[in-house]
Amino acid sequence: MKDLTSIKPLGRNDLEGLVAAASRYREAIDDKQHLDQIMTGKTVSLLFFEPSTRTRLSFDLASQRLGAHVLTFDPARSSTIKGESLRDTVLTITAIGSDLLVVRHADEGVPDSVAAWTGVPVINAGDGANEHPTQALLDAVTISRHFGGFEGLRMAIVGDIVHSRVAGSLAHAMTTVGVDLTLVGPEEWTPENTGLKVSHELDEVVADLDVVYPLRVQTERGGEITDDYIRRFQIDRARSAALGEDTVIMHPGPMNRGVEIAEEVADSPRSLVMEQVRNGVPARMAVLAALGGGG
Ligand code: NCD
Repeated sequence: MKDLTSIKPLGRNDLEGLVAAASRYREAIDDKQHLDQIMTGKTVSLLFFEPSTRTRLSFDLASQRLGAHVLTFDPARSSTIKGESLRDTVLTITAIGSDLLVVRHADEGVPDSVAAWTGVPVINAGDGANEHPTQALLDAVTISRHFGGFEGLRMAIVGDIVHSRVAGSLAHAMTTVGVDLTLVGPEEWTPENTGLKVSHELDEVVADLDVVYPLRVQTERGGEITDDYIRRFQIDRARSAALGEDTVIMHPGPMNRGVEIAEEVADSPRSLVMEQVRNGVPARMAVLAALGGGG
């Protein structure tokens, strides 16, 4: 594996291998163990052309924990403003000295273009509505650690699925490891003909789930928040109460409390949201080690 621009080329063994590696990193971090500085002398460059809190900061810390230097590109204060093209920008950052590029961009396919232009390993940190593979991996790590694996789990991803790159990668990862997945949302936001189970009635599926995964409405990509949406699809107190005793709620963040998830549900004992954030660093360490750790 040279790049991670999509989760789709990864099979079950690849995913389970990365989940196991991430879990080992998570335990080493929790125990404050010494971590092998396998990226000493290497430089990881973070190219985020769209806003980010947890993804950018966790790639930064993950790189540092493995001993790499980190270059952080800030588009708003860069020569992009002077009209420099994306390709020239990327080639410049590579020439300064990048051994690995982490790319987030509003346009689908940019991470693949960057990989082709530079020949340097590229990790996709989110491209338009297409993919967000490391989010899928950290979610897989969180689920696997919480339930002790994926066997027999039932999950629903709820909301603005067609505009969500998180859903794009996560649906593939979950079905690959054998999770029984249903996509739940309004007709206009659920994809057709993917071979995946689809429901437009959250209340019909809610009682039979182990994991409920609401998504933020992607207003920047065409999603629109309506009262009807909130009424039909918010994980509110009543729906949370209808979940099984051991059912968990996950969310990739950022949460819009009061829209896809009610305020009190976001902070309830069922919520694994902060655990997901915590697993973001070891999950990204596992990917960095797989792509840039050796040679
Ligand atoms: C997501 C993203 O940027 O796609 N955020 C994240 O990385 N956790 C989800 C979102 O913005 O809704």
